[in-house]
Amino acid sequence: MAHIPAITGTGVYTPEQVITNAELVAAFNAYADLKNAENAQAIAEGRAEPMQHSSEEFIVKASGIERRRVMDKAGILDPRVMHPLLRQRSDDEPSIMAEMALDAAKKALAQAGRGARDVDAVICAASNLERAYPAVAIEIQDLLGIKGFAFDMNVACSSATFGIQAAADMIRSGSIRSALMVNPEICSAHLEWRDRDCHFIFGDVATAVLLERAEDATGAHFEVRSTRCATAFSNNIRNNNGFLRRSRPDGMADRRDMQFMQNGRKVFKEVVPMVSDHIARHMAEEDIAADDLKRLWLHQANKSMNDFIGCKVLGRVPEPQEQPNILQDYANTSSAGSIIAFSQYSDDLAPGDHGLICSFGAGYSVGSVLLRRS
Ligand code: COA
Repeated sequence: MAHIPAITGTGVYTPEQVITNAELVAAFNAYADLKNAENAQAIAEGRAEPMQHSSEEFIVKASGIERRRVMDKAGILDPRVMHPLLRQRSDDEPSIMAEMALDAAKKALAQAGRGARDVDAVICAASNLERAYPAVAIEIQDLLGIKGFAFDMNVACSSATFGIQAAADMIRSGSIRSALMVNPEICSAHLEWRDRDCHFIFGDVATAVLLERAEDATGAHFEVRSTRCATAFSNNIRNNNGFLRRSRPDGMADRRDMQFMQNGRKVFKEVVPMVSDHIARHMAEEDIAADDLKRLWLHQANKSMNDFIGCKVLGRVPEPQEQPNILQDYANTSSAGSIIAFSQYSDDLAPGDHGLICSFGAGYSVGSVLLRRS
């Protein structure tokens, strides 16, 4: 017998440290001034271009981001460092990602009224993983005392929706009863804070989603009606860091392509139609009309991008509550963004209401999850 999977709990771990646009821009401009002073001669002789200042107005207008949460503010804002400084943990201590995910997972379990014994699997789905192995998911499984199995997966910004599909399909087929799907995202460590074009984009967070068989749910929940995932190769969002780094002829050189890189304009132009078409197809296949959809929980990368997608899907300008944004407070948190929006803006839906989670990003990748409130 096929089981209906359901989301019965969600949790968000929000780092305490906040960086406002004003603080970020002040640090970036101080760094640019330092670099320009160092290169004064080359700049005066026309051999180098001076670094330009960043601006708060540009950041808000281009992205809608007002502040971001991070795991280490001091390192990022120090113009002589410009990246987070995270204490390396010993092998006997929980890893940073496991600790973040644990907080979110406990909140998701508490919301569902569940404990470790009720969980059969842990999926850690994130755009970067702290180490190659053992899987961070297995560490989280161990820290929570969960039996069963666990594994890591990475589909960049779409990791969470692809993770939900994996969990939902296993529940539907009967191989597991339930799964915790967690998304610890330390985006601050793969962002190049010295690059004016993108230094404002990312923040850190962790989210967790508990999926169970709908028949086992003890309270209000969301049935997963269906999921759709799609990918199409693109170099427009890329990070070349990886385990072959030390094997390269240029060794450990501080190369720009070892951090997040994007061609933002192209991403915007290519991903908006890809996502709108993906959602429209998913809704058509499920016989869901625009008027049947009470909420869109979209990936949180850029406000105008979400405005375009919302308009295309609903056929009109969405009301703010129909398509909630959280990126003004968190920035882009990769796979976690749409889950934060879902977690914060879903309680008010009435039984029978439909909503759709959709994430998109590097790959390219797009994943959508159609939910019905029960
Ligand atoms: N402060 C001030 N000015 C800046 C700036 C900054 N921090 N960064 C760039 N600018 C300038 C540029 O130099 C450019 O100046 P010019 O017109 O004189 O050449 C101008 O602002 C426009 O830059 P552009 O990069 O074309 O801006 P944009 O409107 O495309 O916005 C993004 C940039 C990245 C916010 C936007 O393209 C975007 O969000 N794309 C999608 C990103 C996405 O979803 N990525 C997924 C990541 S997982």
